[in-house]
Amino acid sequence: MSSDAYVRVEREGAIARLTLDRPDKLNALSAEVLEQFGRGLDQIEAMDGVRVLVITGAGKAFVAGADISAMQNMSEDEARHFSAAGQALFARLEAMPIAILAAVNGFALGGGCELALACDFIYASERARFGQPEVKLGVIPGFGGTQRLARRVGVAMAREWVFTGRMIKADEALRVGLVNAVVEPEVLMDRATAVAKEIAATGPLAIAAAKRVIAEGEGERLADANAREVEAFAGCFNSADQKEGMAAFLGKREPDFQGR
Ligand code: COA
Repeated sequence: MSSDAYVRVEREGAIARLTLDRPDKLNALSAEVLEQFGRGLDQIEAMDGVRVLVITGAGKAFVAGADISAMQNMSEDEARHFSAAGQALFARLEAMPIAILAAVNGFALGGGCELALACDFIYASERARFGQPEVKLGVIPGFGGTQRLARRVGVAMAREWVFTGRMIKADEALRVGLVNAVVEPEVLMDRATAVAKEIAATGPLAIAAAKRVIAEGEGERLADANAREVEAFAGCFNSADQKEGMAAFLGKREPDFQGR
């Protein structure tokens, strides 16, 4: 385990966990927290054999948004820089070649909802609350919320949530497809770890390729996206993982993927 003041990184086998750990401010994202988050990702990327990352928050919040105290007196230029820093960090999560799960334990508001949306998918505690309350502060989401939320839950629903700033309960988030599962608070981490283990047992190059093709295909015409899939599928056949996976199946044994 290693830590910066506000970000903890732990590892258990092929699974890394990054915890936003600033509970007295509900894990609000200041520029400093974003920097520490980036350093946490550097550490995880330097670890050999990590195949899944689970992101969560300490205390009663996942992340209650960007740090309002830090934003209060920002100039336009400072706000642009802050927004770009958050966007870059979340784009980095999407570009990482491993699966990234958000285990949303509590408030995921503003930047917290945007962080969860930048993860590959979300498991939520019954206590989770989602929302983009920025308009209540006279601003709009700045870490991707106007875009990723609409892509996940549909434009009309995203408009309503962004325009009202309303808080969304976990069961509603489940109903509209924002989260994949809602579980009792005590079992959130166990359930997230169980799905992480399931993913970690599969071919790592296949996960990287699937993540990339799904993301790149999102804004494309179906025919173009499917053409991209053909190339990525074919590319898998250059890997030892493909040979191992298929030999293991036909040999009726468990595969031992090396990510090569
Ligand atoms: N930025 C900075 N500080 C924040 C914060 C944020 N986004 N969210 C919470 N905090 C701080 C509070 O100011 C408070 O600090 P204090 O103890 O020094 O006064 C501490 O975290 C605890 O929050 P509090 O509001 O007392 O908890 P609560 O349980 O009564 O309410 C929320 C929880 C999430 C409903 C409430 O904190 C909230 O609305 N937060 C802001 C959400 C938001 O607008 N996010 C988008 C920002 S762009």
